[in-house]
Amino acid sequence: MADIPNFHLVDDPLSRHKLAVLRDERTPTPEFRQAMKELSLLMVAEATHVMPTKHTEINTPLEPTEVEEISGPVCLVPVLRAGLGMLDGALALLPKATVGFMGLFRDEETAQPVEYYVNLPRNLEDYLVLVLDPMLATGGSLSATLFKLKEEGATWVSCLHAVSAVPGVERVCAEHPDVNFYSAALDPELDENAFIVPGLGDAGDRLYGTL
Ligand code: PRP
Repeated sequence: MADIPNFHLVDDPLSRHKLAVLRDERTPTPEFRQAMKELSLLMVAEATHVMPTKHTEINTPLEPTEVEEISGPVCLVPVLRAGLGMLDGALALLPKATVGFMGLFRDEETAQPVEYYVNLPRNLEDYLVLVLDPMLATGGSLSATLFKLKEEGATWVSCLHAVSAVPGVERVCAEHPDVNFYSAALDPELDENAFIVPGLGDAGDRLYGTL
């Protein structure tokens, strides 16, 4: 895949180690859930690199000084259901974040996203929005999510994924050049059922034991 400026691979050794646990078919559900949480934490730290900051004056116990703070409230948006597996890790680093929910599933016959639940904060334009979804396959679910968030007013959005496939990345980056995408893996292709290969299987099923 050619370099795409708004796609970022998170590939430090610790993230690669967590990804190895997630990819392994022998990893049981509790360990899978834990590794997903830990990877999410690392990815949130990476995604904050492009967050806007503001300078403020505070007093240390010794004297006044200028410090930097993230310039807006953060809204985390897990894409149900698998995105919930990334929420606790994200909240560990951003405990004051507001949480919105996008309920989408991918129709198994058509691989098209079907929306079933949306619950977002009012005034979404005031927030720095982080979308959480472990899998970016065809990109259909994510693109629909991003169009919905923008319709609701979101202007600053980044997306975090454990594993992404090249076709989905090319699609979402082309349709949403104003959004940054972070992934711990970039897999080359999709199989005939639009599953990412080699991937890690169905993240929702592995997180919640519905195998
Ligand atoms: C998975 C995944 C994404 C979507 C990716 O969810 O968590 O939301 O599929 O596929 P796409 O890029 O081709 O749209 P799934 O539909 O399995 O629902 P679940 O999270 O409820 O298991």
